[in-house]
Amino acid sequence: MQWDETIFKNEEMFELDYIPEGFIHRESQMQSLKFNIRPAMRGTRPVNTLCIGPPATGKTTAVLKLFEEAEKNTSKVIPVYINCQITSTRHTIFSQIFKKVFGHAPPASGISFKKIFEEIAKRLLDEEIVVVVALDDINYLFYENEVNKVLYSILRAHETYPGVKFGVIGILSDLKVGYSFDPRVDSIFLPDEIYFPLYSREEIYEILKNRVIYGFYPKVVSEEILTDISDRVEKSGDLRVGIDLLRRAGFNAERRGSRKLSLDDVDNAYKKSGLVHLSYTISSLKKEEKALLKMIAGDDRSDKSNIRAGDLYKIFKEETNLSYTTFHEMLNKLDTVRLINMDFTGEGDRGRSRVITLRYDVRDVLSRLPGDK
Ligand SMILES: Nc1ncnc2c1ncn2[C@@H]1O[C@H](COP(=O)(O)OP(=O)(O)O)[C@@H](O)[C@H]1O
Ligand SMILES: [Mg+2]
Repeated sequence: MQWDETIFKNEEMFELDYIPEGFIHRESQMQSLKFNIRPAMRGTRPVNTLCIGPPATGKTTAVLKLFEEAEKNTSKVIPVYINCQITSTRHTIFSQIFKKVFGHAPPASGISFKKIFEEIAKRLLDEEIVVVVALDDINYLFYENEVNKVLYSILRAHETYPGVKFGVIGILSDLKVGYSFDPRVDSIFLPDEIYFPLYSREEIYEILKNRVIYGFYPKVVSEEILTDISDRVEKSGDLRVGIDLLRRAGFNAERRGSRKLSLDDVDNAYKKSGLVHLSYTISSLKKEEKALLKMIAGDDRSDKSNIRAGDLYKIFKEETNLSYTTFHEMLNKLDTVRLINMDFTGEGDRGRSRVITLRYDVRDVLSRLPGDK
C-alpha cells in the first residue's frame, strides 16, 4: 500500500458525530417526531415531546434529522438544538436561541435574561415564527437545577407575550421514565414520550453493515469481521463501540499495509473502543448513580471490583440515606447499561446473595468519575 492509499471510501462516516443518511430501525420514532412537530409547520404550537432511551439508541440523530428536514421545508419554524452538557444555564440557552433567531449573538455586555427573552418574543410575534427547542441530555439541567427555570420560561412564554409559540423536545438518556420536575412545571409539561430501545443483535448488524458499505471500499471488511464486531457491540450494548471499532481496526489494517481488516486488527482496537462505551455511559448517569458506581469501584478495598450487594447497601445507606428500593433500581440500571455484572452466589442469609463486579478496569472507571461526589 502506498502512503496516500486508503481503505476508507468515506472516513467521515466513522466520526461519532456523523449524521447517517440511512437511519434504519427508527421509522416509528421518526414518524412520531414528525407528527409532533407538524403543528409548528402550520404555524401553531407543536406537541411537546420527550425522547427517552439508553445511550447510543439514535435519540440525538433522530432529532437532528427531524430538524434538518423541518428547516428544508419551511422558514417559519426555527429549530434550536441545545447540547445541555455544554449549554446548561437558562441564560446561555436563551442566548443560543437568540443567536439562531437573529443570526448573531446577543450583545455580550451584561444583557439580562429578561431582555434577551423579550427580544426573542417580539421577533417571533413580528415574523410569525415558531421556535422548537431540543434540549439534548436534559439530565444535565437536573444537576444544575436549571431544568425547572428553563422549562417554565419556555412553556409559559405566552402568558407574558400572548401569541408567542414555543415547543420543547427533551432528550433523556435513561432506561425508564424516572424523571421529576418541579410541580409548577409538571402541571404544564406533559410531554409525549417517545421510547428508543436498545438495538437487537440483528439491527446492530444491519446498521454496521451500512457503514461498511458506504464507508469502506469493497472487500475491506469480510462477513466474518462484521459478525465479530456485531457480537462485541451486543455485549457492550453500545453502537458507538461498533462504529469506533470499525474506524480503529481500519487504521490498524492500514498500518500493517493491508487492504483487509483482520480479526487481530479488531481485537487490538477493542481495548480502546470499549472505553468509548464507558465514557459515554458514565457521562449519561445521574449524580447518585455515579456515586454508587464509585462505591462499587471502591478505592481502598483490596479485592476492588467485587462486592456483595448487602455490603454495598450498607455503604450506600450511610453515604446517601436513600431507600433500599432506590438502591435496587440504581443497581439494575448499572447492570442494564452494562457497567456491572450481578451474579448470585448461592450463599448468604436468604440463600441467595448477589455479588457485584465491574465490567471494566477499576482505574478506567475511576478516571471517568468526578473526583469528589
Ligand atoms: N438507526 C441508526 N442507523 C445508523 N446509525 C445509527 C443509528 N442509531 C444510532 N446510530 C449511530 O450511533 C451513534 C449514536 O447515536 P446517537 O443518536 O448519538 O445516540 P443517542 O443520542 O441515543 O446516545 C451515532 O454515531 C449514530 O450515527
Ligand atoms: Mg445523544
